Amino acid sequence: MISEGELVLIWYPKKNDSFLVRMQHGMVQGTHFGELKHSDLMQHSFGEGLRTPKGEVYYLLRPTLGEYTRRIKRQTQIVFPKEAGFIIEHLNIFPGCTVVECGTGSGSLCCTFAHFVGDTGKVCTYDRRPEFSELARKNAERWGVAHRIEFNVRSLDEGFKERGADAVFLDVPNPWEHIDKAYEALAPGNHLGILVPTTNQISETLRALQDFGFADVQVLEIMLRHYKTEPNRIRPVDMMIGHTGYLMFAVKTLPMECEEPETDVSASGSEPPCGAAEDAEPCA
Ligand SMILES: C[S@@+](CC[C@H](N)C(=O)[O-])C[C@H]1O[C@@H](n2cnc3c(N)ncnc32)[C@H](O)[C@@H]1O
Repeated sequence: MISEGELVLIWYPKKNDSFLVRMQHGMVQGTHFGELKHSDLMQHSFGEGLRTPKGEVYYLLRPTLGEYTRRIKRQTQIVFPKEAGFIIEHLNIFPGCTVVECGTGSGSLCCTFAHFVGDTGKVCTYDRRPEFSELARKNAERWGVAHRIEFNVRSLDEGFKERGADAVFLDVPNPWEHIDKAYEALAPGNHLGILVPTTNQISETLRALQDFGFADVQVLEIMLRHYKTEPNRIRPVDMMIGHTGYLMFAVKTLPMECEEPETDVSASGSEPPCGAAEDAEPCA
């Protein structure tokens, strides 16, 4: 049986339409075909269908993470599930880890991170706009993950407070100006993720990542196309989202330690010591 407090996706198959509702005794869900009492819904189990007063069938489904994201109250552009899923995998987010991100925005990605870090992990999120931080907090409370998130109202110009983070994510308009702050916050060998909506932002960011010696730099775009599910007419749906953003990933590396040159490299004109880039500062 479905319990009080559980989130239920009430799905109408004829229109692929749905309501995401937290069950509460005494509450009702309106539909075009009459009201559904929560107390009646809680007499059912997930997966079951039931009829409205006007005889239309709705199903009670367990909501996926994407259902929360799609319904999040937003005042900013948000990170959508197609990117969020890839980000989780690529930043290696696991229960118990600490994720640092900027900006918080409406809290979409922040709540997804919070979902995966579990009660033993935490998300430290930063935004310079208090109204967005507040909106994200409310979204996180609705999602039930606010206790795993530290909301900081602070500009990234001041840097992150954390050090040795398991992962860092930047979703700000000028990430190339903040690669130094991401580098400071991130543990060596761990992953930085960045989302930018335009290609010119990629170029600037690539240069900054190179300056800080980030390794395994990747730039990618995720395209998603849904198909109609009519068995005799399988083909792509008419509409698709053409563009959301570009993802960038990179791994923090440490500068190589100084090695004693075996020969007089200045005389031989070979590579500079330390294995560092040719234009890097010489080792002290
Ligand atoms: C596109 S939104 C982030 C959306 C968020 N990732 C989500 O999924 O809901 C970008 C946010 O970055 C914040 N921001 C931009 N520059 C910033 C800075 N220098 N320091 C802190 N926050 C900043 C903005 O206020 C805005 O809320």
